Amino acid sequence: MTRKPYLTGHYTPAVDEITATGLTVEGTLPPELTGRLIRNSHNPKPGVTPTHWFKGSGMVHGIRLRDGRAEWYRNRWVRTPALDGAPYMTEDGPDLTASTAGTHVIEHAGRLLALSEANFPVELTRDLDTVGAYDFDGLLRSAMTAHPKTDPVTGELHFFGSSPFPPFLMYYVADARGRITRSVEVPGATASLKHDFALTRHHVVFIEGTVTFDPTEHSGIPYAWNGDQPARIGVMPRGPRGADQIRWFPIEPGSMLHAANAYEDARGRIVLEGPTVDREGFLLSWNWWVGAPGRGTEPNARSYTRRWTIDMAAGRVVEQTLDDLAVEFPTLNEDFIGAEYRYQYAVSFPDQHGYGGYGIVKYDRATGGRRVHQAGDARLPGEAVFVPAAGATREDDGYLLTVVSDLKQDSSQLLVLDASDLGRVAAVHLPRRVTAGIHGSWIPDAETDADA
Ligand SMILES: [Fe+2]
Repeated sequence: MTRKPYLTGHYTPAVDEITATGLTVEGTLPPELTGRLIRNSHNPKPGVTPTHWFKGSGMVHGIRLRDGRAEWYRNRWVRTPALDGAPYMTEDGPDLTASTAGTHVIEHAGRLLALSEANFPVELTRDLDTVGAYDFDGLLRSAMTAHPKTDPVTGELHFFGSSPFPPFLMYYVADARGRITRSVEVPGATASLKHDFALTRHHVVFIEGTVTFDPTEHSGIPYAWNGDQPARIGVMPRGPRGADQIRWFPIEPGSMLHAANAYEDARGRIVLEGPTVDREGFLLSWNWWVGAPGRGTEPNARSYTRRWTIDMAAGRVVEQTLDDLAVEFPTLNEDFIGAEYRYQYAVSFPDQHGYGGYGIVKYDRATGGRRVHQAGDARLPGEAVFVPAAGATREDDGYLLTVVSDLKQDSSQLLVLDASDLGRVAAVHLPRRVTAGIHGSWIPDAETDADA
């Protein structure tokens, strides 16, 4: 039997958990990079072959930096009932604690949470041991998206929970101390797959694409492209009565996994951007994700950055594709979440014709230009996490942190790039090749962590 593509090459799972200290650093690590980079990945246990890439159990990889040193690397499975084989669907409905917890990892109000969109978050310690499922003291009544957004102005965490069954979409706000203070059902939502969303200063922006619940899809992720499913953007005011005022705007068919950002422009229009696939692009990625034989050699090969400009007064949406480079995993300086931003970063992938390649891309939205840091032969960089420099004054004053999987060397490095010109600042040599994966976060030390 052919091995599934998500169990080979860059995606070959790690077979054990290790801890290594005193890592070798090339170049000079800026001292303000004091904290942890924690990155999640789908990493089934040895002998387990999931039916879909997304069904692989989560493994978190952590790299501890402090004052110019790389103190440790460690990798740990997220120990959930699913890791031991517990089913997601039970006689009583979904078991929200049976999470792969393999999509993202964030920190909010001092809690480190591993996320998968069909489940409760799973709390981790700062040393990456599993504490257990976390339901916000019983106030989270649904699954939680893997892509919550921290409002840089208020410190609130905004997120949603989506389900293929009613209620299709719940919206939550947790305050800066981590308490859920709002929880509302979003009117008009459908069973369309919702992986990410966006926040502006005054609105919440939901995205419903052409991929929707399909009980005949047997990969374990019951969704499929369905031309009868209308693609829409839902714009909901953030105020307490916002749900009553939500408006849904039809858009061209497509599927957006990740929102880069959204904001209100000077004319009050909502601008939303993110990499998007058409039907062919979706099938390319999906076939790779499910390991369909001989199909889909590279996910994201037809994923292009798109912009929607929503004129709510006129009731009109203008759409445009911004670039011809295949990209995914958009990131930004998160102080600009919900605000007009100039710089967006992403991972580039080779397209179907071999154009482009693995690299880190920086888009300048003011000039329309792009700059690419090519990763090199057989080197796949992960999502580029932006960390501001000490005393930063410009939006791109900072660093991009990306974990590179190097197949030829059978090794990985944490690469630190200067976000202003994508020049290499430092590389931390990791003691093993880190499985190519999905999302992660930089968790800076709080002042109280100084001795941790
Ligand atoms: Fe994601």
